[in-house]
Amino acid sequence: MSTPMPTTTRAALDVERIRADFPALHQEVHGRPLVYLDNAATTQKPRRVIDAVSRFYEYDCANVHRGVHLLSQRATVAYERARTTIRKFIGAADSREIVFTRGTTEAINLVASSFVRPRLEPGDEILITGMEHHSNIVPWQLLCAATGAVLKVVPITDSGEIELDRYEELLSDRTRFVAVVQVSNALGTVNPVKRMIEIAHARNIPVLVDGAQAVPHARIDVRDLDCDFYAFSGHKIYGPTGIGALYGKREHLLGMIPYQGGGDMILSVTWEKTSYAEPPHRFEAGTPNIEGAIGLAAALDYLDSLGLDAVAAHESELLETATAAVLAIPGIRLVGAARHRAGALSFVMKGVHPHDIGTILDSEGVAIRAGHHCAQPVMQRFNISATVRASFGVYNTIDEVQRLVDGLHKVKEVFG
Ligand code: ALA
Repeated sequence: MSTPMPTTTRAALDVERIRADFPALHQEVHGRPLVYLDNAATTQKPRRVIDAVSRFYEYDCANVHRGVHLLSQRATVAYERARTTIRKFIGAADSREIVFTRGTTEAINLVASSFVRPRLEPGDEILITGMEHHSNIVPWQLLCAATGAVLKVVPITDSGEIELDRYEELLSDRTRFVAVVQVSNALGTVNPVKRMIEIAHARNIPVLVDGAQAVPHARIDVRDLDCDFYAFSGHKIYGPTGIGALYGKREHLLGMIPYQGGGDMILSVTWEKTSYAEPPHRFEAGTPNIEGAIGLAAALDYLDSLGLDAVAAHESELLETATAAVLAIPGIRLVGAARHRAGALSFVMKGVHPHDIGTILDSEGVAIRAGHHCAQPVMQRFNISATVRASFGVYNTIDEVQRLVDGLHKVKEVFG
């Protein structure tokens, strides 16, 4: 039997009206209405984002920063306006602190190459945590292999929280950089990044925050956090794929070497010498993802119009309800039971492989992610190969949580 649950959330959001804004939600999958609970992998897009991208292609399609003609001017204005929207959304002081990237992964690689690498000597240390996504592990491993630096990892507890005392101990006089995820994609853990930044800064160590799973679920203020860098992706916050942003403190960006060479990142080029543009354009070589930036700004405006606090309250109620209901099913165990979680619920069911659960849920119209979530070391920490992850967005409902739970009962029936 399913656990009784409330029929609506308490939050002041008109979720039915919000759902009407997302065309992809209104389809059937295997003959059942789609329940989309794979938002940590990517979110669906509201009509406003789809229209903003289409409008660019229908009316304003031209390259930016390069043309005197009207279309190019319109494209440039929209692209730079998108930068301002992002600045405001994350509380940065200056739009020149916002670099457009392909997403979080490129943002982290950029910082590794252009900020950290020139500062490293063999034996120096970079500190990350045991709950990072591959995008905040592999760039640092590559950097360590190239420079002789050493990657250190802060352990996590059985409930999926960072061991803060070990974090302090691992910050040594060789630590040159800290990179930490704000919300774990695999466990949903919300990390105390503000405190971690304070602790690192007391030792003059700069910090990058991977905010990919945090920005969709809570108001972020980079100045309040005082992080040196903040990275996030557009597609996890209702924007297009292939676009994201890196926030970097102006003084850091000004001192950084280019990441890639090409058009639009230079002041002048001769055979003898090339001089580089000021940030942020120094880090945006080549024709950028113009429509992506415009679509991302439309997504952030949309989320702002709903009210971030109401969105966060709605999602946290979904998460709490889902956690209680899923845990009431015999044989299910949470992976990651941190005191503060956001967005995602990860679990395993005794005797059933997560991929089988994913396949049965899909046949019931329920989309979740089953696998290692691009965080294999997290799986290793818990001695498992994979989990089932249900992750929530602004348009999800308690009825959909019920469909997940019903689907899990079906799994139990199938596997006895
Ligand atoms: N990083 C994405 C996820 O967690 C793809 O699913």
